[in-house]
Amino acid sequence: MAHHDLAQPVRIGLVGLGTVGSGVVRILVDSADHITRHAGRPIEVAAAVVRDPAKERDCTLPAIPISTDIGTISQDPSITLAALLVGGLEPARSMMVELLESGKDVVTANKALLAEHGPELFELARRLGRSIAFEAAVAGGIPIVAAIGECLAANRIESIRGILNGTSNFILTRMEEDGSSYAEALALAQAKGFAEADPSMDVDGTDATQKLAILSHLAFGVWVPWKEIPRTGIDTVDIDLIRYAAELGYRIRLVAVARRTDGRLAMRVAPALVKIGTPLAETRGAYNAVSIVGDAVGRMFFHGLGAGQMPTASAVVADIIDTVVGRTAITFRTTGLLSADTPAAKLAGVDASERHFLRIVVTDRPGVLARITGILGDHGISIASVIQHDPIDAGDATTVPPDVALVIMTHSCPSGAVHEALLSIDRCDVVRGKSVCLGVLDE
Ligand code: HSE
Repeated sequence: MAHHDLAQPVRIGLVGLGTVGSGVVRILVDSADHITRHAGRPIEVAAAVVRDPAKERDCTLPAIPISTDIGTISQDPSITLAALLVGGLEPARSMMVELLESGKDVVTANKALLAEHGPELFELARRLGRSIAFEAAVAGGIPIVAAIGECLAANRIESIRGILNGTSNFILTRMEEDGSSYAEALALAQAKGFAEADPSMDVDGTDATQKLAILSHLAFGVWVPWKEIPRTGIDTVDIDLIRYAAELGYRIRLVAVARRTDGRLAMRVAPALVKIGTPLAETRGAYNAVSIVGDAVGRMFFHGLGAGQMPTASAVVADIIDTVVGRTAITFRTTGLLSADTPAAKLAGVDASERHFLRIVVTDRPGVLARITGILGDHGISIASVIQHDPIDAGDATTVPPDVALVIMTHSCPSGAVHEALLSIDRCDVVRGKSVCLGVLDE
């Protein structure tokens, strides 16, 4: 875009005026002077494409055409850049293709689209001499795409560990801090504009997994089909688990991990116990956190709002400015981001040796604890501590032994051994329902 008359404003199109799109308008209008200074010229919203033009917007819109037809942006030669700020795969994918084919550079926050169709869209953009910028797709306002892709480019990245879904973190924090129910906390996350249009993608771990796949591409230079990453969401976490974790000095967080191991990548997204006082445990509400280890820089920690209107819009507008000044095109051309020859990741099964937190609900009668610990012992698993509180349901103890939760913290042991042991444990007649196993992160 560098060959425009510098005195002229850059005219951009917005596709989507929902939570993020409205935030982008607010920044571009309210901070116009400041943005002109960074971009070297004014940036003007020229048109918007939305699903429902009659809908009320969370911003004061400039007098621009608003239509349902992507052609009002793609076919307007005065518009050189489009911000694609709608979620989901279709029509987002077709609209991105049309925008690129019409000669527009694209800025997007749509991580599902990139995680699913990234290679073909990036290849198309490269072939057409266009660029795609996507800082807002991962960790909202934290500039983690630029940090990994550019600022830490000197490093061989060894590992990434992070909290990448603001909605899940908000729900877990509300449950632990004020005893909110899961449903109440989710409804509040939706009302605050943190959740995806389909919030099941937040709570089942899909959103965090797609973001981990994108970060892993930047960090490790491989393409990871996100569906191959083992994934468990917070929909498996209940208030009792949170209370037991607190009793042991931990909080529960949805943690995404990718690390090199013997030429492969060990990756997973799952709820884990994080020790109170460590940075991940202190990441609250809609905040995200990313911890990266690079061979030259050592460990770096990033923390900031990972969801919500203005933090996400902050990243979108930074990408718009980068595209206007020409930085995006240079990075896009030179880094070979998601090029056709990007190798596919070789994933290792995660068999981390770590402590594990187990909750096993059993019938409360003599010998049951010995039986469970015996099975763990047979699998070489050593126990660090056990909690057993009063029975879950007192019932009629003379005829019906009540159920009770056994909460066990193991010493460090391979997760494969724990899963094998739990398969045997869950087959015992005294075990009620499926046991829960969470990894424990002590630092
Ligand atoms: N729904 C996402 C989250 C928004 O909660 O993190 C940012 O991608």
